[in-house]
Parts: sequence; C-alpha cells; structure tokens
Amino acid sequence: MIPNAALAPAKINLTLHVTGRRDDGYHLLDSLVVFVDLGDRLRVGPAPDLRLSVTGPFKPGVPTDERNLVVRAARLLAQVTGTTRGAALTLDKILPHPAGIGGGSADAALALHLLADFWKVDLARLTRDDILGLGADVPVCLAGPAPMRMRGIGEDLSSVPRLPDCALVLVRPDVDVPTPAIFGALDRTDLAPMDAVPQGLDVAGFADWLETQRNDLLPPAKAMAPAITQALTDLRSLPQVKAVGMSGSGATCWGLVAHTADAKLAAKSMQLRHPRWWVAPGGVFQTSRSTT
Ligand code: C5P
Repeated sequence: MIPNAALAPAKINLTLHVTGRRDDGYHLLDSLVVFVDLGDRLRVGPAPDLRLSVTGPFKPGVPTDERNLVVRAARLLAQVTGTTRGAALTLDKILPHPAGIGGGSADAALALHLLADFWKVDLARLTRDDILGLGADVPVCLAGPAPMRMRGIGEDLSSVPRLPDCALVLVRPDVDVPTPAIFGALDRTDLAPMDAVPQGLDVAGFADWLETQRNDLLPPAKAMAPAITQALTDLRSLPQVKAVGMSGSGATCWGLVAHTADAKLAAKSMQLRHPRWWVAPGGVFQTSRSTT
C-alpha cells in the first residue's frame, strides 16, 4: 500500500535520442530514464471536493487550478472511475521548474497512485492514451522509479539490465528553457536510436558507455542558454564526476558519481562556484515502487 504522503522522484534522462517526428509534431524518442531519491512531496487527505494547495521553496508560479497536472490527473481519475469523492492535495514543491526533470509529470503520476489508494479505485481503468494525454513523461513516472528505456513519444517502456549503484549531482543554471521551443529548434529528427544498455558494467564502464550516447536536445538548449555549456564544463572538472549530460530539454545538467557521498561533495563544489544555481545530490533508484 502506498502511504497518503510520498515522494515524487525527479526523472532524469541519461540519454535522449530523437529518432523521428510524428504528424502531430510530437517527437519519437529513445531514452534511458532513471529516478533519484529527491523530488516534490504530495499529501492527500479528506475534503468534500477536490482541492490543491502548494507549499515549498518552488511554490511561486505553480498554479492550483486545472493548469496544474496534479489537478488534471485527479479529475481524469475521478471521471474515468466515476468516483464523486473529494480530496485535499498538498504539493510541497521542492524541485525547480521548468527544469527537464519531470516535476509536473512526477507530481501527476504520484497523484494518480495516491488517489487510487485513497479513493479505493482501480488505476488500471485509465488507458495508455489517458495517461499519455496528461504529458509524455507521465507514463514513465507512473511506472518508476526503476530505471527504464522509454520509446515512442513516452508510452513505450521497457526494463533495462541492472545499472551499477550510482548517484547524480544535479545542477540547474538559473535559466528557463521552454520544452516546445527546444524541440522546435531541432534541425534533424531522424537520428540513430540509443544502443542497448550493456549488462554488468561498473560505474566507470557505465560512465564510458553514457559518453558514447547522446541527448539530441543538448545543441538547441546550449544555443538558447549558454549557461548549460558552463554547467557541463564545471561538472566535468570535478574529481568525483565520471560522466555528464543534460536531462530532457534542460536546463538541468547531471554529473554521474559513484556514491551519494561523492554527489554531496560535488554538489558543494558546484554551489560554491554558482551560488544562484539550483544544485542537489541524489541517489539513483534501482528497483520499482514497493507495493507492500
Ligand atoms: O507532453 P508534454 O506536455 O510533456 O510535452 C511538452 C512539449 O514538448 C510538447 O508540446 C511538444 O512540443 C514537446 N514534445 C515533443 N515530443 C515528445 C515530448 C514532448 O515534441 N515526445
């Protein structure tokens, strides 16, 4: 059973290959997605109707109406399952936004899990298209937090060989990069897919493999926000960091390290260099959500 308050783990794209473009403008992706033990928190309690309040360091700019994916997810679940019960949702916004780390999608996915439990309704009543309609990252967030390969526009999920235990230092320069503009600035949308994730690598081997893969959204993101180049250069210069990259459409960049202790050290160095940037260490989840 999922308790009535929980973590919505941040989603990190360790690779993000753009392999095509659909007629509706959405892009076909091939991405290795992991989740870290860092994220927004969501709590659900009784109420006569559906209501959302927001707290936390990144509360400014977060809507509490239908513009919030949490409200959209809750209304969708109520509508599909026919429940008339209400719920008071409290979202503690710990993650910056927009940031390319799936904040809104992770919140929506957690809202579905928590409300299905709270309302005693069956989440399986939602179709794949219902879930995808909330946002392209919602299916992977709903299935997380085990590492996954994500294809299609986000709906085609498959498991990957166990990754080595590792952690990430996350760095978001203080720039907003709008996702549609980054996708729109791609000059090629038929690039090669990701290679299969190799089995049995240690952290150094995994880092080497990651360096052979791509995030195709990185060139347009760097062009729009030069601070991303600075973030990657500075991350790469740290002794603990074994590979670097950008998550989603940015602007959050990551550095791969061997342990949470190294992630904390690396985070400290980055925060000293860039006091105005958001910097945080996070351990990478290796297994699925507990259902006990
Ligand atoms: O689905 P979501 O709201 O997260 O997507 C935001 C925007 O990102 C879309 O409107 C689209 O411009 C772009 N996108 C895309 N292909 C994807 C996911 C997102 O082009 N697979």
